[in-house]
Amino acid sequence: MNSRLQFCGGGSRRHTRFGGWLLALATVSGCEGRDAMLDQPKLLPMEPSEVFLDGSSMRPLVAGTVPRSGAIQSLAPPLGSAPPVTMELLRRGQERFMIFCSVCHGLDGYGEGMVVQRGFPRAASYHTERLRSAPDDYLFAVITSGYQNMPAYGAVVGVEDRWAIISYLRALQLSQNAQITDVPEETRGQLLE
Ligand code: HEC
Repeated sequence: MNSRLQFCGGGSRRHTRFGGWLLALATVSGCEGRDAMLDQPKLLPMEPSEVFLDGSSMRPLVAGTVPRSGAIQSLAPPLGSAPPVTMELLRRGQERFMIFCSVCHGLDGYGEGMVVQRGFPRAASYHTERLRSAPDDYLFAVITSGYQNMPAYGAVVGVEDRWAIISYLRALQLSQNAQITDVPEETRGQLLE
């Protein structure tokens, strides 16, 4: 029998005078009427059962089951497995960045997006030495789990899109910190025109 039921019946009778008061209270408060709801024909976890051959009411977990809270992390590829950077990946990253990050971090990544201009705590600028040298998997973890005032985006931005965003974030960083030597020699002339 469900242990909560004792408050409404059997349990209170064991406590003589005080129990009598409880029983009276319970009756006045309509507790008796709730018995039918509390005493539903259901099986509680760990309760024995004759329904299944193994005598347990609980079903064994399907192989590979993970808690929902761990599911997102376990979908993440092992560290260092960022996909090769292609134009397609960058474009996807740019699009996703516009949707999910620019509102706070700004289109240029300096941390002054519209939401910040309207009062949200200032988002980090990507153009600092620390974040330029932060490894990709650190950025991946920040997107997945959030960071201090930044909410987590693991539940809404898929694993591949997180890598795409990171590659675009790197392009943004480079756009503010490029050296002439980053440009292939044969195209430098075009730059200076
Ligand atoms: C709702 C606003 C908001 C959005 C959207 C947002 N961020 Fe942030 N982000 C912040 C804030 C605020 C901080 C600074 C956190 C702090 O220092 O308290 C931050 C910090 C960061 C940092 C720096 C962490 C560090 O070590 O300093 C990175 C990297 C980052 N965000 C990446 C992203 C990416 C990529 C996205 C898009 C997927 C994104 N953020 C979306 C608000 C946001």
